[in-house]
Amino acid sequence: MAADDEAAELLTAAPDPGVLAAMVTRRVAGEPLAWITGTTEFCGLTVGVHPGVYVPRWQSEALARTAADLLPARGTAIDLCTGAGAVALVLQTTRPGARVVATESDPVAAACARSNGVVVYEGDLDGPLPGDLAGKVDVLCAVAPYVPADALHLLPRDVVAHEPRAALDGGVHGMEVLIRAIGCSTRWVAPGGWLLLEAGGGQFPEVVTLFSRAGYGSVRVLEDGDGDPRAVCGRLGPGGGPVAAPA
Ligand SMILES: C[S@@+](CC[C@H](N)C(=O)[O-])C[C@H]1O[C@@H](n2cnc3c(N)ncnc32)[C@H](O)[C@@H]1O
Repeated sequence: MAADDEAAELLTAAPDPGVLAAMVTRRVAGEPLAWITGTTEFCGLTVGVHPGVYVPRWQSEALARTAADLLPARGTAIDLCTGAGAVALVLQTTRPGARVVATESDPVAAACARSNGVVVYEGDLDGPLPGDLAGKVDVLCAVAPYVPADALHLLPRDVVAHEPRAALDGGVHGMEVLIRAIGCSTRWVAPGGWLLLEAGGGQFPEVVTLFSRAGYGSVRVLEDGDGDPRAVCGRLGPGGGPVAAPA
């Protein structure tokens, strides 16, 4: 965001000059603007962002909008790794008759998403989801951590210094959570339902292959507003549904 836009946001958020000065000090020290003002814009919605919670990025808006388009009016959606709940909020705002639930492992982020009106099950990936959703989900999506652990130091200095590592660190090649999300997805997604995952850098060929191997067809890469590849989307074939337990 341009400096004059940031200044305008701070001016709007500050009730008096004393508070404004304190806000500017925090921003100069590198704190995310959204932690200071308490909100950010995502797909035209105002999303509350508590200090310590990953700030939703405009680059994820393509995934959120596509997921909302694919969700039937009275369908069911899961947003794994919901953070402040921005993607879930887009889904439930666009499809108010749908059932939208989310998961999040960080209690601070889970509380933030709940304050934004999102139903959050706290825990690891799909672990805390209610079993009645198995095989019934029309859209499962996630903006999960996908930065390679050995590339975290290349992120902007303020991001490294302030945003939670658990929100960014995707482990080896940045693929660890993505691989788990694809693997667990077929337990939840209904035949004909959709999986959408954000990814980055050189991950797309591998993610597309993993989607296909897991049973997803119509696999395509979604671009963000800059025209850069940003997410993978696929539809589960008729043989989808719960994966048989290994013998
Ligand atoms: C990149 S942030 C994205 C947050 C949100 N989806 C968004 O787009 O703003 C990833 C989020 O996943 C959460 N997370 C990381 N590992 C997780 C796991 N194994 N299970 C559930 N949530 C996880 C982090 O705490 C963080 O809030």
